[in-house]
Amino acid sequence: MHIMQRPALVVALVAAFPFFSLSQQAVLPTDAISSLELGNGFVLSSSSTALQITQANLSIWATVHDKPFISASAGNDSVEGSNGAFNITQVDTGRCSGQSMTAVRYVPWSASISGGAAELSGHLLGCGNGTAPYALYFWVPANLTDRVAFYVDISGSSNPAQPLKKLYFSYASHAGEDFYGLGAQASFASLKNQSIPVFSREQGAGRGDEPLTSLENASGTFAGGDKFTAYTAISSYISTEGKVFYLSEKSTGYANFDFTEPDAVTVRYDSLSVDGAIGRGSDMFEAVSKLTAATGRMPALPKWVDDGAILGIQGGQDKVDTIVQQGLNISCPIAGVWLQDWVGTHSQAGPYVNVSRLWWNWENDEELYPQWDSFVQDLRSKYNVRTLSYVNVFLANVSTKPDGYRRNLYDEASALGYFVQNTTSNSTAIISSGPDLDAGIIDLTNPGLRSWFTEVLKEQVWNANISGYMSDFGEYTPVTSDTKLYDMVSDAFFAHDEYPLLWAEFQRHIINDLDLQDEALVFHRSAATGANKYMNIFWAGDQNVNWQVNDGIKSVVTIMGHMGLSGYAHQHSDVGGYTDVLTYDDYNTTRSAELLGRWGELAAVSSSVFRSHEGNIPSVSAQFYSNSSTYNYYAYNARMFVSLAPYRRMILEMECATNGWPLLRPPVMYHTSDLRARQISYQSFYLGPDLYVAPVLDPQTFNVTVYLPGIGGNGTFTHVWSGKVYGAGQEVNVPAPYGKPAVFTVNDAWTPELETFLEFVRKKNQTQVLVD
Ligand SMILES: *[C@@H]1O[C@H](CO)[C@@H](O)[C@H](O)[C@H]1NC(C)=O
Ligand SMILES: *[C@@H]1O[C@H](CO)[C@@H](O)[C@H](O)[C@H]1NC(C)=O
Ligand SMILES: *[C@@H]1O[C@H](CO)[C@@H](O)[C@H](O)[C@H]1NC(C)=O
Ligand SMILES: *[C@@H]1O[C@H](CO)[C@@H](O)[C@H](O)[C@H]1NC(C)=O
Ligand SMILES: *[C@@H]1O[C@H](CO)[C@@H](O)[C@H](O)[C@H]1NC(C)=O
Ligand SMILES: *[C@@H]1O[C@H](CO)[C@@H](O)[C@H](O)[C@H]1NC(C)=O
Ligand SMILES: *[C@@H]1O[C@H](CO)[C@@H](O)[C@H](O)[C@H]1NC(C)=O
Ligand SMILES: *[C@@H]1O[C@H](CO)[C@@H](O)[C@H](O)[C@H]1NC(C)=O
Ligand SMILES: *[C@@H]1O[C@H](CO)[C@@H](O)[C@H](O)[C@H]1NC(C)=O
Ligand SMILES: *[C@@H]1O[C@H](CO)[C@@H](O)[C@H](O)[C@H]1NC(C)=O
Ligand SMILES: *[C@@H]1O[C@H](CO)[C@@H](O)[C@H](O)[C@H]1NC(C)=O
Ligand SMILES: *[C@@H]1O[C@H](CO)[C@@H](O)[C@H](O)[C@H]1NC(C)=O
Repeated sequence: MHIMQRPALVVALVAAFPFFSLSQQAVLPTDAISSLELGNGFVLSSSSTALQITQANLSIWATVHDKPFISASAGNDSVEGSNGAFNITQVDTGRCSGQSMTAVRYVPWSASISGGAAELSGHLLGCGNGTAPYALYFWVPANLTDRVAFYVDISGSSNPAQPLKKLYFSYASHAGEDFYGLGAQASFASLKNQSIPVFSREQGAGRGDEPLTSLENASGTFAGGDKFTAYTAISSYISTEGKVFYLSEKSTGYANFDFTEPDAVTVRYDSLSVDGAIGRGSDMFEAVSKLTAATGRMPALPKWVDDGAILGIQGGQDKVDTIVQQGLNISCPIAGVWLQDWVGTHSQAGPYVNVSRLWWNWENDEELYPQWDSFVQDLRSKYNVRTLSYVNVFLANVSTKPDGYRRNLYDEASALGYFVQNTTSNSTAIISSGPDLDAGIIDLTNPGLRSWFTEVLKEQVWNANISGYMSDFGEYTPVTSDTKLYDMVSDAFFAHDEYPLLWAEFQRHIINDLDLQDEALVFHRSAATGANKYMNIFWAGDQNVNWQVNDGIKSVVTIMGHMGLSGYAHQHSDVGGYTDVLTYDDYNTTRSAELLGRWGELAAVSSSVFRSHEGNIPSVSAQFYSNSSTYNYYAYNARMFVSLAPYRRMILEMECATNGWPLLRPPVMYHTSDLRARQISYQSFYLGPDLYVAPVLDPQTFNVTVYLPGIGGNGTFTHVWSGKVYGAGQEVNVPAPYGKPAVFTVNDAWTPELETFLEFVRKKNQTQVLVD
């Protein structure tokens, strides 16, 4: 189009940056403004102190005065650990100390709106004892014209004494810009002042909550994790300026986002090139729309999930049947059962009680579910209850399974070379998860494995007329140099974060093959940039069965907030949490009936799916079916969830599907200039635009103190239970007995879709929910 080669401007742009250059002595008027048009109104320009990209005078990207915008360093990061628990220590050696910019020019660029890109080039200086050439490209993508894409390339460096390993991309921010996103972040509201690693792994048990984290980490396996460990890490964020930044789906290398400098953001990336895009919306909503226009939007959630709870049960056909009948007798709305033990279980010895583990060989267990196919069918035809099962990325050797097996998938896949390989042993890379649980990880980059495993899942999992499953793990691929995948772009460290994307894409392709888009519910805890377009529901992973901030019930809200701002609109968690701890002499955690009840309340007013989990040691934890009081509270919560279905469905269809906006919204999304709203992580959230919620996330707490956001007192919040109306911009204390989480309608909102919920509230206003 109109821009190709404009040498005069190039000279002025370069000359305006004498401070970068050791070699360049040119002196030009310091107020020289020169500009290059990138297309669609985006302009790259220079002033005496900065280089920036604007659109309609709004800054999209800018350099920081006196700070290199590209840098590099040598050194391999240290990654310790196995079995999904990776402890990463960043190693930077010989980090370049300066940068020169010697040219800015237009180069042909096929994917751009103009056919060209601006190329900024020069050298990185003081890299150990050498220098290295760099190039940075900016263009407006032809298919997404409302943003600027970038590509950083330092691969031309050649100092064999100190080969560069990572690049740094820095740009301007300010002390008042707050950041959200980057995946399943569980410990912070705004990420400002933090340096956040982007790597999907076991989040650990504790994550900073004590005493568990220290107890778990004492073994040296990093099993406790820290405040930065996450099942899903995603290289994208949204800021209070309406800015959106993301690395492309292919940029799966280890990244780190440093928000600790008041005036800059620095992205550190473990490779010599990276690409992504930067955009700016009028607010955080528009920024999420821009993000998801590129990374995708979640496929529709099947309608049947609106009809009730999905009961997580283990123990075999008779037990499941009994519990379903009990529920129906007390009018518990039941949409489905989730039976992870359909493959059978075996015990591993624990200090106090044995822990039951699943056989990772995807066929029904003859002892627990001998008539699996007809059992699934009967639940559906007798009770209109659907069945969900369980699969993961492993195949375990079932040769020691006492009641036998029909196929040993592990043996078959080993012989075919379908597992991730170990080049030291020249065989399957083994993940050992305790006695009788040696497993290989299926290699999703191998086309042979993909067709073989597709048939396995179709013929012996989906064939039973199930409606989906937990699609577990995804964050386990080893990263050592003796790890080999069939089709590895770079090394295993780079491939690691690509795996969750492949896993989600693989599952979606089966759903599409089987034409089950309106039926299948497949839930993942590991995701990646772009995996949102393949999964219709995200599951927040394994939490501890307690009230703590970093890994208990509170962390679920924080995770859903950041995941929503990472493009994952539909989410849910295990009602009741997952991890019981009975390992240490002086510390136990087991689930109380109260926690189970409050978690059910939280799910009812926050999530797109209501599904419970028995936990890892069901015998020591309160279960919804433990007694009539637990089942009644659970049924009550399931009814509250169902009463919100019309409203939820409207938001899913009108806002999530079309704009990529999350159902659960951190208050900052609506109140970017309210400094208090910016700091809310788990205390409250919006459910769609019309409801504001402050869940009870503490034991023996029957009223909540909640901040109602909105500076200047603009807006009202009506407490649905009492009918009391409160003005915005203040903290209020409202009663919240069991069964009555603090829910407010915003600005007196009313829509027909809210009516079933308001009717529920009116009916239950005098009902006392009990925990015995
Ligand atoms: C940008 O700002 C300048 C000076 O303030 C003004 O003249 C110009 O109209 C603005 N351009 C746009 C697109 O808003
Ligand atoms: C860094 O990693 C590369 C590739 O894995 C390896 O070849 C190299 O020896 C490592 N360097 C150091 C200093 O460990
Ligand atoms: C740079 O340092 C390495 C050792 O660290 C040395 O081998 C090499 O010769 C040096 N190169 C120059 C240009 O000084
Ligand atoms: C970041 O640090 C600054 C300076 O200490 C502080 O004013 C600001 O509130 C902090 N922001 C967050 C999100 O922690
Ligand atoms: C993580 O690795 C670093 C570097 O080896 C080590 O200092 C630290 O103790 C490790 N953390 C845990 C919890 O194991
Ligand atoms: C836009 O085009 C690029 C190729 O230039 C492609 O990789 C990307 O998937 C396209 N994005 C969308 C949202 O169509
Ligand atoms: C694995 O294969 C390599 C190359 O074929 C060979 O050098 C090595 O000895 C083998 N290692 C084992 C443990 O068999
Ligand atoms: C490969 O096997 C060796 C021992 O045989 C082990 O030390 C190494 O960690 C294994 N690597 C992987 C990727 O499984
Ligand atoms: C932990 O639980 C076990 C098994 O119920 C019990 O024997 C032990 O006393 C408990 N320890 C603590 C500190 O409560
Ligand atoms: C809230 O509950 C606490 C005890 O949980 C009680 O001390 C306090 O008085 C209550 N406040 C109000 C306003 O009801
Ligand atoms: C109050 O909020 C409404 C919409 O929420 C907005 O239109 C109006 O401008 C706001 N008024 C003030 C004074 O901020
Ligand atoms: C609930 O009961 C209280 C106290 O009796 C009453 O003030 C309030 O209006 C009722 N709320 C609804 C929604 O009926």
